[in-house]
Amino acid sequence: MKAMLCKAFGPPESLVLEEVPRSALGPGQVRLATHAAGVNFPDVLMIQGKYQFKPPFPFAPGAEVAGEVTEVAADVQNVKVGDRVMAMVGANGFADEAVAAAVACMKLPPHMDYATAAGFSMTYGTSYYALVQRAQLQPGETLLVHGAAGGVGTAAIDIARNLGATVIATGGNDDKLARVAKHYGVAHVLNYKTDPQWKDKVKTLTGGAGANVIYDAVGGDVLEQSLRCVAWNGRILVIGFAGGDIPKIPANMVLLKGCSLVGVFWGAWLGREPHVNRTNFERMFEWYEAGKLSPIVSHKFPLERAADALNAIINREVVGKCVITTGRD
Ligand SMILES: NC(=O)c1ccc[n+]([C@@H]2O[C@H](COP(=O)([O-])OP(=O)(O)OC[C@H]3O[C@@H](n4cnc5c(N)ncnc54)[C@H](OP(=O)(O)O)[C@@H]3O)[C@@H](O)[C@H]2O)c1
Repeated sequence: MKAMLCKAFGPPESLVLEEVPRSALGPGQVRLATHAAGVNFPDVLMIQGKYQFKPPFPFAPGAEVAGEVTEVAADVQNVKVGDRVMAMVGANGFADEAVAAAVACMKLPPHMDYATAAGFSMTYGTSYYALVQRAQLQPGETLLVHGAAGGVGTAAIDIARNLGATVIATGGNDDKLARVAKHYGVAHVLNYKTDPQWKDKVKTLTGGAGANVIYDAVGGDVLEQSLRCVAWNGRILVIGFAGGDIPKIPANMVLLKGCSLVGVFWGAWLGREPHVNRTNFERMFEWYEAGKLSPIVSHKFPLERAADALNAIINREVVGKCVITTGRD
């Protein structure tokens, strides 16, 4: 099998495509012929030795894949050879084959292609859990999505429109925001980089009330300012810190606004309540088959151009997801 290997910590250009031996399957494992792999910022951190999880050398980056099951361990019951699945694998996804835990595999809805599936698990899994289980977003409520052009941001918008919420989207790039607005029919977009009045505009757009739920994947000043445009009984979802800064929140603002700060850690919750996560995916797959979900994959690169894929993430060029394909389609 071929894998895009990290043999020493370094930039994307230091990855090398090599033939590597297959490992034998352990109990509960399945082998996939990988068709596509999702690209995420932690992949960049992992090859530079800056991520909390450091696999032994050599390893391939890539935490999520989609492909066809080619082999299953004797004790596996939930998937079989020939099934089309998506799976979280942690690492070693940038390869033309992958080994996954059978419990981590989700069978694809019939009409979902592999490239879409490769970028679906983490973003849609996180955003559904955040909006439904953590924020309990209600029909008619206003959702403010920060980092709206990114992977989890676009997923949040896509899910929220199915939950009957009104979306206000923010980002730092007008072109990316325009593409998201057109794709999902979002009426209001604001630029947190160039428009210092964005929080006042959220108040205006909500008739002075503020946003009921704020989905924040950016952090820093964006999270701090969100406390000034959240509604009474509002929920601010702490998703991530893509901007690089973890803010210190003035607790008096949480008191004065009568709002909640709600932490979201999908990966940890997944281990605690896998059955609820599976139910979440079943509902999203129904929406997908009914044409009610529309994930965006703005960039696709062949496996040998994995460095370009990682650089597209580093340079903030991506709208929705960037994926690597192995040429099997
Ligand atoms: N809590 C969880 O369970 C969970 C799960 C998945 C991901 N996350 C976290 O959520 C965050 C977003 O993930 P993602 O997959 O959506 O990432 P992404 O696709 O790279 O999107 C991140 C967005 O953040 C914005 N951004 C603002 N400042 C940035 C900066 N300095 N560098 C890069 N982007 C910046 C960008 O929009 P503009 O260019 O328009 O500003 C970009 O669209 C990450 O921190 C990730 O670790 C958390």
